[in-house]
Amino acid sequence: MIKIGRKTNDIIKRDKKIMFTTTREHFPFVVAKGNGDYAYDAEGNRFIDFTTFIGVYSFGVNANSEIRSAVKAQVDRLMHPAFLDFYSELPVKFSEDLVGMMPRGFGRVFLSNSGTEANEDAIKLARIFTRKSYIVSFYGAFHGRSLGSLGLTAAKTAQRENFGPFPNVVHSIFPNPYRYEGTPEECATNAIEHLEKNILKKEYSNREIAAVFIEPIQGEGGYIVPPKLFIKELRRVCDENSILLVSDEVQAGYMKTGKFLALDNFGITADIYTMAKALGGGLPIGATIAKTSLGDTPSGSHAGTFGGNLLAIAAAQASLNYVKRNMKSLQLQVKEKNRYMMKRLVELQENYEIVGDVRGIGLMLAAEFVKNKRTKEPAVKERDRIAEQSFYNGLLLLPAGDSSIRLIPPITISKENLEKGMDIFEDAIKSESKGKA
Ligand SMILES: Cc1ncc(COP(=O)(O)O)c(C=O)c1O
Repeated sequence: MIKIGRKTNDIIKRDKKIMFTTTREHFPFVVAKGNGDYAYDAEGNRFIDFTTFIGVYSFGVNANSEIRSAVKAQVDRLMHPAFLDFYSELPVKFSEDLVGMMPRGFGRVFLSNSGTEANEDAIKLARIFTRKSYIVSFYGAFHGRSLGSLGLTAAKTAQRENFGPFPNVVHSIFPNPYRYEGTPEECATNAIEHLEKNILKKEYSNREIAAVFIEPIQGEGGYIVPPKLFIKELRRVCDENSILLVSDEVQAGYMKTGKFLALDNFGITADIYTMAKALGGGLPIGATIAKTSLGDTPSGSHAGTFGGNLLAIAAAQASLNYVKRNMKSLQLQVKEKNRYMMKRLVELQENYEIVGDVRGIGLMLAAEFVKNKRTKEPAVKERDRIAEQSFYNGLLLLPAGDSSIRLIPPITISKENLEKGMDIFEDAIKSESKGKA
């Protein structure tokens, strides 16, 4: 049982006084250090990590020794190369290798520092390449919190309230099979029809819409996996209307689903990909990768001081080397661990009324909590208590969507800790369910 002491309470008190409030309200976790499957708080309590620290540490908390060594070695050479104005080999080499992981035809990269920036860059690229200005994104989407990407984000009003207006954005329906009365195919068709018959015919024509942004699996929105048909049809609509398709791989990409690109699970290719989070192995980096055929940007039209930062690139390069060298083993680990977790999740769904849905691809999994399975009314407080109790029993979890908990352990987690984590999660669900079955 985790005990929270004076040190933790004191740091949280000071945080509340000095820091602008963000989202640190789930439980009193003051992180001090981490290694492999574990994170430790300021009191020395040990936790199993099922969050990868918001989808970043795919190979264990604080990255692996290979990534850390690369950063340490780079510190003494050069940290900031002013890649905006000067040339430097490391970012070029990294971009060449990153393009090597992309489908054929991708050949230009813009480097930045975060997911939101990678999406800002994609918005600008879509506009300059098409000379059109409107962007379509989806309800439930999270593309970031800077003003361009926040316009695309439509996951919670709290994230947008008071920050608008957000011009030239239109939101369309994202198919959520769990909450649709009908088959997954009907759910997909309904969403595509809305885009084609309402948006494209009644609101903004294909002469105005530059791009459609999509998360192959909606992340912050609740780990919602769209039907394959929807993504296939979306590609068709984009092609027929000369609209660019942008895949936001910031959360779902970089091996979490067992594939380098999450969109590959759906058998289609986008025109622009954005990546961040796990890409830097723990250091801040964003990348926007476009098809060579789209062209280049005019000199001076887009740049940023810190894009191509050598510490971030050193980490990202070491991480990419690790991925390339261990591709087969990583894919196998994702497959086997997915099989184990899905088996446990399906059992939870069968055994507990509050577990409404379990879903995901690879190691990007979630359970959605409901008051009862028939009404599917979101069980928000219950979800929060389950995450909290798990925390006090030594398991780190994060919420997603209205009433879901995401389960994103490191790909390299040991089977023993995966099992322990699932046991803690089940115990919390069991005690929340007591007297409610
Ligand atoms: C799909 C997706 N896109 C973009 C972002 C924004 O990334 P960042 O927080 O690095 O700006 C996130 C962050 O959670 C995300 O999940």
